[in-house]
Amino acid sequence: MSAVLPNSPAARDIAYHIHPQTNLALHREEGPLVITHGKGCRIFDESGQDYIEAAAGLWCASLGFDAPERLARAAYDQMRTLAYYHTYRQRAHPKAIDLAEKLISIAPAHMSKVIFQCSGSEANDTAVKLVWYYHHAIGKPEKKKIIGRRNGYHGNTVAAVSVSGKPDMHADFGLPLPMMRHTEFPHYYRHHRDGETEEQFSTRMAEALERLIVEEGPETVGAFFAEPVMGAGGAIVPPRTYFEKVQAVLRRHEVLFVADEVICGFGRTGNWWGSQTFDLKPDMMSSAKALSAAFQPISALLVGEHIYEAMVSESEKHGAFAHGYTHSGHPVAAAVALETIRLYEEMDLIGHVGRVGPYLNARVTELAEHPLIGDVRGVGMVCGMEIVEDKAARRPYPAERKVGGIVDRHAKRHGLILRVVGDRLVFSPPLIIDEAEVDEMIRRTRLALDDAWREVSRK
Ligand SMILES: Cc1ncc(COP(=O)(O)O)c(C=O)c1O
Repeated sequence: MSAVLPNSPAARDIAYHIHPQTNLALHREEGPLVITHGKGCRIFDESGQDYIEAAAGLWCASLGFDAPERLARAAYDQMRTLAYYHTYRQRAHPKAIDLAEKLISIAPAHMSKVIFQCSGSEANDTAVKLVWYYHHAIGKPEKKKIIGRRNGYHGNTVAAVSVSGKPDMHADFGLPLPMMRHTEFPHYYRHHRDGETEEQFSTRMAEALERLIVEEGPETVGAFFAEPVMGAGGAIVPPRTYFEKVQAVLRRHEVLFVADEVICGFGRTGNWWGSQTFDLKPDMMSSAKALSAAFQPISALLVGEHIYEAMVSESEKHGAFAHGYTHSGHPVAAAVALETIRLYEEMDLIGHVGRVGPYLNARVTELAEHPLIGDVRGVGMVCGMEIVEDKAARRPYPAERKVGGIVDRHAKRHGLILRVVGDRLVFSPPLIIDEAEVDEMIRRTRLALDDAWREVSRK
């Protein structure tokens, strides 16, 4: 990053703006990368340099970084018609109704109702509360514990980050909440034993989950949260038979299953939902991000009829379903999300991912030959690859060498924004990416890997 000039946007950013998920001390020294505009899969900084955004921002900008005219128009028209109204106390407005109906029409058959929030975190927080509410309704209030997975990520509000298995996000915040538990990280490449097949590994993962439930007491365990493909864990595709075995354990112990579709929903894995790609039958599904192509802050939690019926009986008991947000189902966000889904359908986004996703995965897989890369694995339009020091032994570099960070630095120099998770490099570009842009992304990645390799092997 260049020197920060007095009174520049960067200097004012340092002076006034606190950034999430940022090393604030480093930021105070170096300042931000200021992005001024976007076009398709690219973003541009103040100097005009373009970057291919291989992470779709935060796995969310499904249609790229400049909104199609009709989505801008949907927002504008809604602001002129009804710019705000709430959905508390039996109030409704047409766009929230239309969007809820649309979501149920594209959701797996056992989903029956939708509740809106503004972010993935809030959707998962709502799901946590509904797990507790549901179990009160059915007379099992002691089923309070919730199991997430190590390296799972479900957001940053107090409950969602507690279900997340990210110790760095708990440290010194006094978290996780005491009723949260975490089971194994199902990363086959990194954690399988010598000679262990994917299926055997999955059996071991499911057994570990069952052991945890039994040790805690099944009568105290309310739910299990999982992303179909783990995003912030490093784009971890579930090993074969994993979810089949895990779901059998959950059914045996009457533990609810919340599928976190915040990244996977709306095409990322090649179907509308990751739950369809991996044959999941969740009790609730949280979604956000690509729901509005990331152009408006909106999330939706989809629930099965049994959850809804429990909510109805609790709300009768207490006089209301006493939960909600000022912006739940905000009309402008709902209008944009509705138009976004219609656009996905008209452009056959799922078909596009079905064509370009395998191309992306094949091109990324070519990089497995690079001396830095040990493993490549993906599905649909998401792919992760792992940096290793010793390919045969699957041995990573010592963490303090920060090799992922070195690749990241070179990637930026070559006009590429990658998502780096430790020593895993993730590709989850806007879903509209085409073959030519994939080729350019791979070309820039290769340049970054070559530069990083030169730097790493010098030391
Ligand atoms: C799987 C998953 N769930 C939840 C969230 C939280 O979403 P938000 O940042 O919109 O609160 C994220 C964000 O990256 C996510 O990846």
